[in-house]
Amino acid sequence: MKYKKEPAFINRQTEIAYLRLWTEQRPESILFFYGPKSSGKTTLIQKFLETELTDQGSFCVKHFNLREILIVSYEDFLQRFFVVEDQEENTRTQTRHYDLKLFKLTVEEQRRIKARQLDPFDVMKAEFRELNAKDVKPILIIDELQALDFIYFNSQRELIKELINFFVAMTKESHLCHVLLSSSDGYFIEKLYNDSKLKKTSELFEVDYLPKVDIVYWLNNLEKESNIKEYSLSQDQIEYIWEHFGGSIWEISNLLGKFLTVCQDGKVPDDQMRKLITKYMMQARSYFEEYAGLKRHLQALFAEVHKKSAKGFFKETELGWLVDGGFFTEDKLREELNSLVQKNFFYYDPTLAEYKLQGRCMEIGLEMYLREVHVGNCF
Ligand SMILES: Nc1ncnc2c1ncn2[C@@H]1O[C@H](COP(=O)(O)OP(=O)(O)O)[C@@H](O)[C@H]1O
Ligand SMILES: [Mg+2]
Repeated sequence: MKYKKEPAFINRQTEIAYLRLWTEQRPESILFFYGPKSSGKTTLIQKFLETELTDQGSFCVKHFNLREILIVSYEDFLQRFFVVEDQEENTRTQTRHYDLKLFKLTVEEQRRIKARQLDPFDVMKAEFRELNAKDVKPILIIDELQALDFIYFNSQRELIKELINFFVAMTKESHLCHVLLSSSDGYFIEKLYNDSKLKKTSELFEVDYLPKVDIVYWLNNLEKESNIKEYSLSQDQIEYIWEHFGGSIWEISNLLGKFLTVCQDGKVPDDQMRKLITKYMMQARSYFEEYAGLKRHLQALFAEVHKKSAKGFFKETELGWLVDGGFFTEDKLREELNSLVQKNFFYYDPTLAEYKLQGRCMEIGLEMYLREVHVGNCF
């Protein structure tokens, strides 16, 4: 079936080359992808698997995208990561095909895990050993790792910490398996860093929004990259889009779809383009308005964030005035920032301890919000 618009995949050559090199070296550390929401982490991983790891015989990729599967308990985790081999059927058909993404358990192993006599990590390890012995490189990828937060083995053992410890053992200590983890939640990553053995055993790699040169290339090559034949954009329009969305690929892709509804004679009329883009900005503005409402401490927080982020980012330590002015206690401020990261207002870079607004659109939305409700003038 032909569509009028297809998902693009622009550049990421540096990232792909980095991943290639990573798989060519014996595993020594955990690789951790982080970056703003919708910056293209999942797509990059998928493209890498499709284009680079095509030699099925040399790699065994176990790829779990936890956004696609619901895990709320330890039992769910077992069910989603492991499959029980049916021994009888196995001997009958000999060629039974197992989902290679999952780890294999015998019925007996499953029983012992349930009875807590066997650790599921020992089963994983045995499988990695087996693959190594056959000269197959195992690669374990877990996308949206934060989904495993707050899951307990039992009341003492947190699954996520046990997993990280296991990954450290598999990479740094025994070099048995490549491990790639990914999350958009900078707070979660920082918490993991502070609580577990992740420090000095892993490498953080930022997958950021695309730079201007890539966006300009994409918007000049819509037919080639997105299969859009209905219109092309002028240089002024491309500049305008960059000014309003920066490198936020998902939003730009969405906008390109909207342009299909208003284009005429191979062009997008300027007034229509501006009208559509204004809608995105108004929506971003409304997020702030809706969230803060009449809560003075939140209005003050947004005004202060705007003041401090003129340089492109802000730090918690720059928001002392909110504490001195009685709007927040130190703990409540941290809590609020955390919550705004979870809600995608802000993006937190754990390697720099810096916050940014989640994309150019939110920056403009915040400006509009402060201007329109005159909140900025009150503080
Ligand atoms: N390099 C790229 N070029 C163009 N579009 C991309 C690129 N990477 C991702 N996208 C698009 O951006 C959107 C978000 O990507 P995704 O991989 O889901 O982000 P993340 O996993 O970081 O949240 C998807 O619709 C995807 O098709
Ligand atoms: Mg993703």
